[in-house]
Amino acid sequence: MLQITLNRPHARNALSKTLLSEVADTLNIASEDPEVRCIVLTGDNEAFSAGADIKEMPEEGIPMFADASRLTAWKTIEQFRKPIVAAVNGYALGGGCELALLCDIVICGENAQFGTPEIKIAAFPGDGGTQRLPRLIGKARAMYMVLTGERINAEVACNWGLVSEVLPSGETVNRALEIAETIAEYSPIALEMAKAEILMSFSKPLDESLSLERQMLLWQTEDHDEGIKAFVEKRQPRYIGR
Ligand code: CAA
Repeated sequence: MLQITLNRPHARNALSKTLLSEVADTLNIASEDPEVRCIVLTGDNEAFSAGADIKEMPEEGIPMFADASRLTAWKTIEQFRKPIVAAVNGYALGGGCELALLCDIVICGENAQFGTPEIKIAAFPGDGGTQRLPRLIGKARAMYMVLTGERINAEVACNWGLVSEVLPSGETVNRALEIAETIAEYSPIALEMAKAEILMSFSKPLDESLSLERQMLLWQTEDHDEGIKAFVEKRQPRYIGR
């Protein structure tokens, strides 16, 4: 397991190009490391992340959003195959909210605030937010967030299904690590397949994703054999990721 902590507290962990690339580079390394079975992603108590670094914008303007390294970094996060558990405290705004949306399990502190305030700077959540939000919380709520730029608190985020648990903010990282430890016990290949299958439900028509789910179920793995054997023999399984 690997914990990634966003660490630009002076800028509320705004995702500068450098910070975003660092996250992506770390995930690239983690994806090749068999010891890393699950990632915990967090910020600090004030902010998970306040989104794209607005102060970088005047320098680079619109081309910043088309910058290849920025787009590659987002793609890397989006395509990361191992589970990511986010522990969100404080602000998760704009790109910070979009980053949380890319995590597989999100838990948050009572002080968390989610929002897409881009409209206030005449922009919109263009790193996946306009597409993922309505799929996750429905059109009316997504429109409310994107068109008003108003933030929602932890309780509302939980009721709307953006997060699965709300805890006192001091407990979120430990809880995320606990969830990650549970996940890390399981077969890496089974986790990858399970994650891919759930994500398919957002990108493919139901008949196609059901058929792909069926095909993946028929893909026998050594780990699956081992899981069954261990159950019958009443022992802990030893998974090898094949
Ligand atoms: N980019 C750059 N710097 C940021 C930042 C951001 N997104 N968010 C906060 N900061 C900086 C502030 O400028 C301030 O720096 P200084 O001390 O040098 O003045 C420092 O972080 C602390 O911020 P505040 O004093 O404002 O702290 P606060 O606790 O009162 O408020 C906040 C925190 C609500 C997050 C507020 O800073 C804020 O509204 N930030 C902007 C959030 C935002 O609009 N995010 C969307 C960005 S756009 C995007 O993600 C994608 C896109 O456009 C496509």
